[in-house]
Amino acid sequence: MEHIPVLLRECIEGLAIKPEGIYLDGTLGRAGHSFEIARRLKGGRLIAVDKDAAAIENAGKTLAPYADAVTLVQDDFRNVGVILDRLGIDKVDGMLFDLGVSSPQLDDPGRGFSYMADAPLDMRMDITYGALTAYDVVNTWPEDKLRRILYEYGEERHAGRIAARIVSERERAPIETTLRLVEVIRSAMPAKALREKQHPAKRTFQAIRIAVNDELGAIREMLETAPDRLNIGGRLCVISFHSLEDRLVKEAFLSRVRGCTCPPDLPVCACGFKQTLRLLPAKPIVPTEGEIKENPRSRSAKLRVAERV
Ligand SMILES: C[S@@+](CC[C@H](N)C(=O)[O-])C[C@H]1O[C@@H](n2cnc3c(N)ncnc32)[C@H](O)[C@@H]1O
Repeated sequence: MEHIPVLLRECIEGLAIKPEGIYLDGTLGRAGHSFEIARRLKGGRLIAVDKDAAAIENAGKTLAPYADAVTLVQDDFRNVGVILDRLGIDKVDGMLFDLGVSSPQLDDPGRGFSYMADAPLDMRMDITYGALTAYDVVNTWPEDKLRRILYEYGEERHAGRIAARIVSERERAPIETTLRLVEVIRSAMPAKALREKQHPAKRTFQAIRIAVNDELGAIREMLETAPDRLNIGGRLCVISFHSLEDRLVKEAFLSRVRGCTCPPDLPVCACGFKQTLRLLPAKPIVPTEGEIKENPRSRSAKLRVAERV
């Protein structure tokens, strides 16, 4: 299937690519954005990061025409500072983060991300790392912790009912597969909720995926480090797909735009915070109707762009 990168033109404009610059794509995926960055470089470098080994392998093929200008790194973008240190790079001219899961991850039934295909409950973006899988979350986490993630990460109204049903079902037999989990979720939901347009398991699956991959923790850590690793004039572009992600990005950007937090009547700054980012533009960029029609996945995307000052 053809791959349509989300908000591609807007990201490329936001990055304001200089041919001899150094750029980092922290979410390589299918290399849609990376390809467009790499082909604009002349003497520059692209560091392309993804925690998913399959993404690194496949994107390597896509980026082969620009192999001399691209460094592929399998790592978590929460380590953006360490990644740059390892490469001996102090600062870069632009960074892009297109958050969430990729279509190959969703479409590969074996990975367990999809509520449409039967698979073991896994949902790890990096299958070479870590012990925690969706199976562990579903079968071992206490009910109140399950309820909390369903509510907070999935914004699931029926979090309490679903968590309680998961716990009562798993006491009889472990919940091993995606479709078994869908069955359990359905059985916990009120009939009216089952008639809604959205798939009844969508929010629960989102919540478990975020928990398994500590997605919000990774975004927080990246946002703390990334702005300090930009050259003056360097750009930071982040595409988020739901309000939890966007809130983190918005708040991190604003705290760097605000700078000094001292009361206005204080004659000299005592807090020491300085403005390090400027928003470009102030409001997030969203897809056009045309893009949403062509690529429905872009519907909830929000791109925030900031410049290092
Ligand atoms: C939405 S896709 C990116 C799509 C990409 N921009 C393209 O055009 O093909 C998100 C990718 O980011 C990766 N990812 C998500 N969280 C990550 C993290 N914390 N560190 C590294 N990669 C991450 C996923 O494995 C996935 O491949």
